[in-house]
Amino acid sequence: MAPEENEASISVLLKEKRSYPPPKAFAKSARVSSAAARGRLQARGRKSPEKFWEQAARELVWSKPWRRTLDWKAPRARWFVAGRLNASVNCLDRHLSGPRRNKAAIVWEGEPGETRTLTYLQLHREVCLFANALKGLGVVKGDRVAVYLPMIPEAAVAMLACARIGAVHSVVFGGFSAESLRDRINDQGAKVVVTADGGWRKGAVVRLKDAVDEAAKSCPSVTAVVVLKRTNTEVTIHEGRDHWWHRLTAKASADCPAEPLDSEHPLFILYTSGSTGKPKGILHTTGGYLVQTAWTTKNVFDLREEDVYWCTADVGWVTGHSYVVYGPLACGATVLMYEGAPMHPRPDRFWDIVERHRVSILYTAPTAIRAFMKAGDEHARAHDLSSLRLLGTVGEPINPEAWRWYREVIGGGRCPIVDTWWQTETGAILISPLPGATAAKPGSATLPLPGVDAEVVDRAGRPVPPGAGGYLVVRRPWPAMLRTVWGDEERYKSQYWSQIPGMYFTGDGARRDKDGYFWILGRIDDVLNVAGHRLSTMEIESALVGHPAVAEAAAVGRPDELLGQAVAVFVTLKGGRAPSPELKEELREHVARAIGPIARPSEIRFSDALPKTRSGKIMRRLLREVAAGRAIQGDVTTLEDLSVLARLQQDEES
Ligand code: PRX
Repeated sequence: MAPEENEASISVLLKEKRSYPPPKAFAKSARVSSAAARGRLQARGRKSPEKFWEQAARELVWSKPWRRTLDWKAPRARWFVAGRLNASVNCLDRHLSGPRRNKAAIVWEGEPGETRTLTYLQLHREVCLFANALKGLGVVKGDRVAVYLPMIPEAAVAMLACARIGAVHSVVFGGFSAESLRDRINDQGAKVVVTADGGWRKGAVVRLKDAVDEAAKSCPSVTAVVVLKRTNTEVTIHEGRDHWWHRLTAKASADCPAEPLDSEHPLFILYTSGSTGKPKGILHTTGGYLVQTAWTTKNVFDLREEDVYWCTADVGWVTGHSYVVYGPLACGATVLMYEGAPMHPRPDRFWDIVERHRVSILYTAPTAIRAFMKAGDEHARAHDLSSLRLLGTVGEPINPEAWRWYREVIGGGRCPIVDTWWQTETGAILISPLPGATAAKPGSATLPLPGVDAEVVDRAGRPVPPGAGGYLVVRRPWPAMLRTVWGDEERYKSQYWSQIPGMYFTGDGARRDKDGYFWILGRIDDVLNVAGHRLSTMEIESALVGHPAVAEAAAVGRPDELLGQAVAVFVTLKGGRAPSPELKEELREHVARAIGPIARPSEIRFSDALPKTRSGKIMRRLLREVAAGRAIQGDVTTLEDLSVLARLQQDEES
């Protein structure tokens, strides 16, 4: 983060005035059914966050009770100290002794249209079989297993199988390239990679196994690759290293006692972009993570036994971990899972799914909502969406116009919307309405949940007055917080716990209004939020500089109607290389190949120099303004060569 550039960016955005109280019919039977009831929970959380979370922890099954709720020596937290539990037992076994045994755990729909339902009993069996298969490949407690799968039930099976035996899973989003996969496998030293022959996306097969083969060429830690047959695509099988999933599980026993694990035993590593350096392996552990994901699933989504709950996130992102797999399964929910693209084969695919499966809770991203809005109301209106009773959003601020469209066209005006703020690092939702209790204001994630001490502060950690912009921090530890950056404790300390003294720094700017509501103003570091996904400018720049024609590159975010932010890059070429539309296209493809299609720049501008400070730092603030087509504001006196700026502004996209 470069403070010199960022103080200025925390200026306050639009002021949304309207407030929407919880719909009466909803509030009447909600778990937390009034502002006063939420107030009482908040008061309990404030008085003793530890007691608050301890009560939540009692809703899980522990094989050994904890001795202390929290050990906190900043920045090291241990929750439910010395307690033992197993996440897969909490998500599966404990539901088998009652009526949930034969309840649908996962209702899955593939992109081509086939469906599959796994009851809790069936899912438990699949998990045990696969856990034994992993053991057969030599996986033991603490080993890392990389999961590179499409959105199919086996993704959840693989995660829960790891959890069952104490292996640490690391899911890599199937849209990431072979190079990104390789870097993640090597950073964690994964022993096994679990993949598929392919997955369906927009009517085509994404060839995951090919990417694994490419990556594995330089992954010395990998001893085995498990391949699931999903698309019947031809793949190369490397004898001795590769194993078909169906063959391994056909031979495996369905009896796999779960390993009782320490509350702080690592559950998973998930990579996310930071402003500097390579992606960070965010480490989450078992007890605290499960307590808070389960509590938030139950209360933020006001989950009922009969709900059909659909979180549209891919398991490759944290939302897919916490709110497709762990939170809802720990609560015994029926989870809908969909493999493919949102508008395939027609723009009404989502609404068709909602109607056919009678989805009652829908949790999705603002970028998807904006895309649906643009496609036109008729696609939603053609379907019976009356089963919906609650809507949620996550990933970026939702613009009030999209919020109102979501409420009226999708929710028929009767469904509350929960705008949930959280991060890969926080593990669980921290700021959100409780749908029966909190009046919503479009564009605001409203209030910190009980037991969460979030605040907006200045650089010295002092709360800023209502209406003023500041840094979003969390002042006390929370159960689902990250424990470290895998293999880089220093980075954990410096990135999160050193910027604002004594507090967790989120990297987001925010303000609170006079009602105490939080308005997230976006990232203040060099991290882009493209379609709700974090991308680091640094990674995109290194990818570009890796191309033989490129001398220097700067990536910035440009406001984009659909994506929230689009990637815009400024490139200077090496001597002898001339700009051309073909080279532009080549560079865009180059970035997509190096990182994944989500990072493909929307815009490339060639320039003979980049604006820099006298100390040589690229002034991204200026480039952001140029990319957005805005007049340059603020201080440019430190700029080395003002004519660079003038030339950049003249350079029109060809
Ligand atoms: O900037 C915030 C934005 O997304 C970032 C976290 O990204 P990631 O770790 O990829 O996790 C996304 C899903 C949890 C945050 O720092 N963000 C997330 N939710 C919201 C949000 N911004 C505004 N409102 C939200 N509800």
